[in-house]
Amino acid sequence: MKKHTFVREPIVLDVNHMMSDIVGFQYGIDAGEVDAMADAAAAAQAAVAKNRGTGWLGWMELPYNQDEIVAKIEKVAQSVREQYDAFVVLGIGGSALGPIAVQQALNHQRWNDLPKEKRGGPKFYVEDNVDPERMASLLDVIDVTRTCFNIITKSGATAETMSQYLIISELLKKAVGEGWQRHIIATTDHEKGNLIKLAWEEGFETFYIPDGVGGRFSELTPVGLLPAAVCGVDIRAMLEGAAAMDTRLQSGDVWQNPALLEACLQYIAMEERHMNVQVVMPYADSLKYMADWFCQLWAESLGKNVTRKGMAVNCGQTPTKALGVTDQHSQLQLYTEGPYDKVITFLKVGTFRDEVTIADGCEQFADVHFLSGKTLNQLIDAELRGTEYALYSAGRMSQTITLTEVNAYTLGQLIYFFEIVTAYAGELLDVDAFNQPGVESSKLASYAVLGNTSEKYQRKAAEMKGRPEPLKKYTL
Ligand code: PA5
Repeated sequence: MKKHTFVREPIVLDVNHMMSDIVGFQYGIDAGEVDAMADAAAAAQAAVAKNRGTGWLGWMELPYNQDEIVAKIEKVAQSVREQYDAFVVLGIGGSALGPIAVQQALNHQRWNDLPKEKRGGPKFYVEDNVDPERMASLLDVIDVTRTCFNIITKSGATAETMSQYLIISELLKKAVGEGWQRHIIATTDHEKGNLIKLAWEEGFETFYIPDGVGGRFSELTPVGLLPAAVCGVDIRAMLEGAAAMDTRLQSGDVWQNPALLEACLQYIAMEERHMNVQVVMPYADSLKYMADWFCQLWAESLGKNVTRKGMAVNCGQTPTKALGVTDQHSQLQLYTEGPYDKVITFLKVGTFRDEVTIADGCEQFADVHFLSGKTLNQLIDAELRGTEYALYSAGRMSQTITLTEVNAYTLGQLIYFFEIVTAYAGELLDVDAFNQPGVESSKLASYAVLGNTSEKYQRKAAEMKGRPEPLKKYTL
């Protein structure tokens, strides 16, 4: 396993540009408004603390209760690294976004293009869609006889993942024959769903997603830890980072608990200021898929049409991602001059793992030559400051989360931080942050379309027939 001497520093949340004393009173949040939420915030923190480890808050204990499982993951990961040329995750949503994000954050950004000696492990692919061209192209570049497939599904029933399983297992049976099962690792619930039954039948190596951990909260289980370990990530450091964050989030005082402050500010932003969009904008390619991972967490957890007491609401904040600096040349115009409906969350890196100096030259052009001798590190930092200033001068709200360095320890902190912010925000909005009925409804409808004969799909098929026939005049 790759062992770094990590910078083990806390990540920092800077909300100055959310506040009225800095960005002005029209949209900025007054500290008094936060103080007015003190009781609600303390109650949210207390509810989450009281229920930790139980119900759907099982994920809160993951930094502490996985010693045995981590040892097994490391052992299996080592054997995968020695035996295979490629490691393919088959999963979707919470069973894919975390592995993608962690790989991008912690490993070489052109991992699959590196020579094997430099990688020290297999090429890495995550197939989180059922686009037939994508599957066909994967099969063009891997040799299934030299590939390990990690099928990840909490429910063990997701059509996308199980279709992929069917395709791959058939190929393995043909190409490998006896012993094809050794190419599959199942990560799933310990008793529910079809995958675990298949795993029992076929004798697959199996890892469990513990009870009380929903898909989007599962990155710190074998869902995320096994793929990370296969690619050489120090998964113990990830868990240590998560534990360090947990210790910072014990206070019910909103000004002492960064996740609580963040949840309150986003609550005020969405409920009082109609900031219906949160743009997560990392200024680092390494963090760009962390934004995707966060988007699922925030969207599925808080986008609800009913409170826990059954009152109708349509709440939530649309998370979206932008990449600094790339999207300065695409989205920033909208953020600075478009509707006042967005909060921008910058993810900033203190020290990049590489430094690139801009070469000398173009003396004849002063506004090019001034770049010579500076580093890309200075440039990206200056551009982040420039964007923050542009938003500030347009009266827009932004906030910055800084990772001193992107490493397993700081990433573990960030994952845990966002998960707790989401749990607190669910409390403040009084919604069930851990279900996803809207996703289930789409699943039912698509299986009905495919002709699944089970009763619930047939009922959905009948319901779908009640929709008005499309009118020709609307199809051009
Ligand atoms: O957060 C969730 O629960 C969902 O997004 C799931 O992760 C997604 O639907 C995939 O489900 P499963 O892991 O059961 O295949």
